[in-house]
Amino acid sequence: MAALAQTQTIEPSAGPARDLIRIRNLEKTYSDGSVHALANINLDIKEGEFVCVVGPSGCGKSTLLRILAGLDDYDSGTVTLDGTPITGPSRDVGVVFQAANLLPWLTVRENVALPLRVGGKQKGQAEDIDRLLDVAGLKDFGHRYPYELSGGMQQRAGICRALVRSPRVLLMDEPFGALDALTRERMNLELQRIWQASRKTVMLITHSISEAIFLADRVVVMSARPGRVIRELEVPIPRPRSNDSIISHPSYPALAKEIRGLLNAQGDE
Ligand SMILES: Nc1ncnc2c1ncn2[C@@H]1O[C@H](COP(=O)(O)OP(=O)(O)OP(=O)(O)O)[C@@H](O)[C@H]1O
Ligand SMILES: [Mg+2]
Repeated sequence: MAALAQTQTIEPSAGPARDLIRIRNLEKTYSDGSVHALANINLDIKEGEFVCVVGPSGCGKSTLLRILAGLDDYDSGTVTLDGTPITGPSRDVGVVFQAANLLPWLTVRENVALPLRVGGKQKGQAEDIDRLLDVAGLKDFGHRYPYELSGGMQQRAGICRALVRSPRVLLMDEPFGALDALTRERMNLELQRIWQASRKTVMLITHSISEAIFLADRVVVMSARPGRVIRELEVPIPRPRSNDSIISHPSYPALAKEIRGLLNAQGDE
């Protein structure tokens, strides 16, 4: 962890330019036809960018994430990863859900290594598990079992597992939603470190406005169902960020107010 404190500062303005994910005119209605989940979603995510998505409960955020993960189908539109349509789960995409879902009979290390066993280990494509555990602050816990870890540690192990096959994209659906507020702040700091070390392209869903501003290069605000993208807000706060540097930054109050206003208008938060 100590070495990571010195990760280079990434200025938002020096960010990447190439779109890795492209979503065009995406429509999704669940199969019995009664729930129109997503309506005309258009969204680009640049390579190396950290995007947070906020929106009212039931607006289709998880549906959008599952479509990007190749876990759900859609009615029309296009969804591409580096120009290739997403048609199913891929090793290029790692996913983290609200519950870490570690297998209780495997050690932390074995859990993190599991995707390599399931997917077939291929030379040059596996992350160094020791390095991942070190980055996630779990270096001394590889031989422990999930029940011996706190909720936050389990979630960090889940992030390591999602990264072990070196995906280009990390999708996270309310990964810290079940944690207490202080642990959650620590997890945000650690996720920032992990991201700065790995430089993945990340889309993270959250209900927390402060978490979204802390983590994101850009916050995407969705409408109530059927979900549409109603605003995209750049976060012009230099990295690495701390909880203090975020709150004291001059752009924080206006950003938080605007997001809150948009969500309130949708009947959430
Ligand atoms: N498998 C499914 N079959 C039918 N309807 C579904 C299914 N999954 C989700 N829905 C519906 O689609 C809508 C969007 O759900 P989704 O889970 O994407 O919302 P969400 O924005 O992630 O909500 P939350 O913030 O509460 O997690 C909801 O009305 C939900 O009931
Ligand atoms: Mg959801």
